[in-house]
Amino acid sequence: SAVKVIFSGIQPTGVPHLGNYLGALQQWVELQKEPSSSTRLFYCVVDLHAVTLLQNPQQLQIWRRETLAALLAVGLDPDRCNIFFQSSVPAHCELMWILSCTASVGYLSRMTQWKSKLSLPEQSSVQDAAAKAKLKLGLFSYPVLQAADILLYGTTHVPVGEDQLQHLEFARECAGNFNAVYGHVLTPPETILSPAKRIMSLKHPMLKMSKSHADPRSRILISDSMENIEMKIRLAMTDSISGVSYDPVSRPGVSNLLSIMSHLDEEERSCEELAEACKGLTLRQFKDKASQTIDKGVSEIRDRYIHLMQSSGASALDAIARQGAVTANKEAGATMADVRRAMGL
Ligand code: ADP
Ligand code: NA
Repeated sequence: SAVKVIFSGIQPTGVPHLGNYLGALQQWVELQKEPSSSTRLFYCVVDLHAVTLLQNPQQLQIWRRETLAALLAVGLDPDRCNIFFQSSVPAHCELMWILSCTASVGYLSRMTQWKSKLSLPEQSSVQDAAAKAKLKLGLFSYPVLQAADILLYGTTHVPVGEDQLQHLEFARECAGNFNAVYGHVLTPPETILSPAKRIMSLKHPMLKMSKSHADPRSRILISDSMENIEMKIRLAMTDSISGVSYDPVSRPGVSNLLSIMSHLDEEERSCEELAEACKGLTLRQFKDKASQTIDKGVSEIRDRYIHLMQSSGASALDAIARQGAVTANKEAGATMADVRRAMGL
């Protein structure tokens, strides 16, 4: 059949920032426009991936709720998509184990995220075997869990950023390895590369905006108030060249603000068109304009988010999570029945 199944996940590591929203979530929302008869959507809060690094349990519980609320706030409709917590569907772990038995250690050890952990400057002692042995197994094998996430739902398409292409290739490899032994059961997925530009850090516009950067003023959250947005944009690193122009290489700060504005612009103007429209402004005026555009772009999301996090919205969140878990367990259960049958289990 020609039914498309789309799966994507987000880690529960706090309220999403503009990079997450413009680089990923906006596309998730966009995909809802495809006819529901031919395109099924699975959006998963991947809380089991979050515990690859040690998490404070109270904090994780809060972040899980915040992430679910954020998915609804950006405009995902729980009647159109299956929204659920990964840890509510035990089959993710079960399929992970099964895939582990046909996955190659050599392939996993060549993955860049693992290699980068082996060579982080602050962990240079990891070069010796004792320190290396302290790295956790989950960090090494989490691409197998990611493959299980995708393959459980018969996913045909995964929307991802460039940084995730290697993991998608590994998921295809996992499906191929399993199928080579047990017959054609699992579907190797294709990628839908996100069309969005990378949103850069407000403080270091040569780096991507990320929640892993220590300074919270380097990113704007979708729940930020107008005052917070203004404060962060005023403090954003730009340059001392007068006027506004779009030139990502020599003016990364100004160009990043133009890029954010372009993504949120109601008239859908390009970065160059916005630069032209702003060229007579002082830096201060330009930043005020950027703040206004961002505030306008997130205000509905922010209002919905605040409502969902209040007690009146809280029971709605629980009901959506419960319903999502029921549907996802049913779908995953069907795949697991095929997998077990093929294996003689
Ligand atoms: P972070 O870097 O803040 O930890 P994640 O790695 O959890 O973000 O990313 C979640 C999703 O958001 C991914 O699809 C990723 O490609 C996208 N994303 C994250 N940061 C950016 C950014 N600065 N610009 C564009 N997309 C981004
Ligand atoms: Na990240």
